[in-house]
Amino acid sequence: MKYREIIGRMTLEEKASITSGKDFWQTMDIKRLGIDSMFLSDGPHGIRKQAAAADHLGLNASVPATCFPTAATIANSWNEELGEKIGIYLGKEAVSQKVNVLLGPGTNMKRNPLCGRNFEYFSEDPYLAGKMASSYIKGIQSLGISACVKHFCVNNQEERRMAIDTIVDERTLREIYLTAFEIAVKEGGTKTIMSSYNKLNGTYTNENMHLMRDILRGEWDYQGVIVTDWGGGNDRVAGMLAGNELEMPTTGGETNVDIIDAIKNGKIKEEALDECVDRMLELIFTTEEVYKGPRSEFDVDKHHSMAQLAAEESIVLLKNEENILPLKPGTKVAVIGDFAKNPRYQGAGSSIVNPTKLDNTVECLEDVDIVSVGYAPGFKRYGKKSIKLVKEACDLAEKADIVLLYIGLDEATEAEGLDRQNMKVPQNQIELLEAICKVNPNIIAVLSCGSAVEMPWISNIKGLMHTYLSGQAGARAVLRVLCGDVNPSGKLAESYPIRYEDVPSCSNFPGKEVSVEYREGLYIGYRYYDTANVKVRFPFGYGLSYTTFEYTDLKVESDKVTFSLKNTGDAFGAEVAQLYIGKSSDMIFRPKKELKGFKKVFLQPGETQTVTIAFDNKSFRYYNVATDSWEEESGEYKITIGSSSVDIKLRGVIMREGTIATAPYDRIALPSYFSGKAACVEVSEFEILLGRKVPEAKWDRSKPLGHNDTIAQCQYAKGGFARFAFHLIAFAHWVLRKIGKISTANIIMMSIYHMPFRGIARMTGGAVNMPMLNGILMIVNGHFFKGLSHLLKERNKMMTASKTKKTIVEATKER
Ligand code: BGC
Repeated sequence: MKYREIIGRMTLEEKASITSGKDFWQTMDIKRLGIDSMFLSDGPHGIRKQAAAADHLGLNASVPATCFPTAATIANSWNEELGEKIGIYLGKEAVSQKVNVLLGPGTNMKRNPLCGRNFEYFSEDPYLAGKMASSYIKGIQSLGISACVKHFCVNNQEERRMAIDTIVDERTLREIYLTAFEIAVKEGGTKTIMSSYNKLNGTYTNENMHLMRDILRGEWDYQGVIVTDWGGGNDRVAGMLAGNELEMPTTGGETNVDIIDAIKNGKIKEEALDECVDRMLELIFTTEEVYKGPRSEFDVDKHHSMAQLAAEESIVLLKNEENILPLKPGTKVAVIGDFAKNPRYQGAGSSIVNPTKLDNTVECLEDVDIVSVGYAPGFKRYGKKSIKLVKEACDLAEKADIVLLYIGLDEATEAEGLDRQNMKVPQNQIELLEAICKVNPNIIAVLSCGSAVEMPWISNIKGLMHTYLSGQAGARAVLRVLCGDVNPSGKLAESYPIRYEDVPSCSNFPGKEVSVEYREGLYIGYRYYDTANVKVRFPFGYGLSYTTFEYTDLKVESDKVTFSLKNTGDAFGAEVAQLYIGKSSDMIFRPKKELKGFKKVFLQPGETQTVTIAFDNKSFRYYNVATDSWEEESGEYKITIGSSSVDIKLRGVIMREGTIATAPYDRIALPSYFSGKAACVEVSEFEILLGRKVPEAKWDRSKPLGHNDTIAQCQYAKGGFARFAFHLIAFAHWVLRKIGKISTANIIMMSIYHMPFRGIARMTGGAVNMPMLNGILMIVNGHFFKGLSHLLKERNKMMTASKTKKTIVEATKER
């Protein structure tokens, strides 16, 4: 232990106090020992430092900061250098605001396009996500502070995120859901990790010994701090045993007492607490270093320009019929769509940034060489079709050569805490598109949203530019790409299925009650579409350019591939060359091919470069559940270089001498997995893959409700009062939606409806403690008077304790 001496001078109470929040965002300080408090702040694509009222839902304002494009956007750049640069800019802003730990990046997999938080995550591919996450981490941490990669792990749905039990087999867990985190730990060197809210195979991730001890601390040798997601702590003692150093936010000291009691009664050894304190001190002392000197402000304009550059490199051109783009100088355009005036540039929830500036298309038009014939909103963001707005838009469209139609998803549809209901663009926008098409077929749609949507309307447009959520400077970036000042080079970091029903997890998403079963196993995103031969609208890795590229001369060597890449067009541009590796196998099932490397190459017209992509320790490995380790099959591997996952430019092979390992599967028993047609796996087959029975997925409605049951379960509570409260909440939600207050309705869903009861204690900073919560649960379970009296008694105890300034330890001893 590095801080043995100082830890030796700490009382047990002080040690415990270091492992939980002082308030919503800060850790405890101990002045007499020179230990400062640390400030933790969201993240991930801008700083959300709340100076006054604090929350984790993005409700109260924060100090202005640059809103960079979200992770889903930047992933399309496939540019690690860019990620690192953004990390540096984020780090600078964090330092200027005295933030020690920046809560990001988020690197969960996009298992299903409807996950409400996909806009905050990088990709459906763990390799790409891991590389991008680690580039951010390196950038942020180069400033001396800490990044915090989140949400570890299998947090792939928002509905019931604080209680859902994710059922996933070990190989899928390792290869798909952990690899990005592994890269973030080993290559990014993250100093902090946030455990997710959900359970993994029956145990909360924060308490999951296999995940936290065997894998994270053991195999990956992670030496940093683990912080709970806000209010995600369940059993503090179990968390600490699994190695959770920090619980956030404060519980008013209540869970510190749990730790102290556990040490006194021998459940935890004091050395285990000391180890956690040691890691906390390392994080505090090292991230405080930077604040010893004077703090400098950041340059708002420079950072805004960086946000623009980041957006320019991440925009994806999806359709360019008749080379309608780039727009010729002087083209007469009609700018239509509410998003042109009120940009959709970031997501909703804890990541919401209060931008320093905000560009919009209408105001930026004068900076580019096109002529606007006017702007018309065309539709109401949150409403039904408006005949008046459609007519106005069509009249304008008639006057122009080209229509720039700004469409997308609204802020309430893609939000933390909730999943989307479908993959559709709102109907009133499609109706507008169809109406405009009749008067002017030269439509270029500019799409703003943070995840994949269905596009049955695509034949009605000639150009399609996907901006994702491009940050505060996105509007100007889009115009520059439309006009050819910037050549688009973004490529999709996720697949675009034709319809939602094609998504492999479609029938197992989201988990509605107790659990969610990852029956599709390894086959998420392109791994499924590619292997099962399911056509997609746009494949993973796809994106157009205003120039063309030629791939030649593939050489496969033992440690790398090299090939030549030439810009054969007449514009400067960048190509993302992608290395996929596959193998036919009788021993294990595997996706047809998987991304194992990529390189973004910038080329002048006519220029050729030799591109090298090295193999690494992930290129050929697979996780063998019989030997419980990473193995490599011997034999021939197919090496493919693609411009996307389906547009393969070069092919080669390599022979590898692998490891000798027991075959882990019975091929006959796992037909869906061996064929890759894993969209409708029967439970019996999934159980064979899992190696055990799946737990009951439905709530046991006969049992009394407990700490980890959610408020939503009050619908069948024994207590009439609880059932009434449930209907009241459901009614309030319904009314709010009806009157158009969708964001407020969403907040009810995420912060009340889907919250487990324990959240009442964990999220109220000690105002409601666990004994009081027990009283509430008695009421919920039909013992109204007994529960009320218990609640009041416990409340009085707490009040008396705080009046007489008893320490929390003494007060709790009396409980
Ligand atoms: C989110 C985290 C966030 C935290 C603090 C939680 O609800 O899941 O991503 O960092 O709140 O705002």
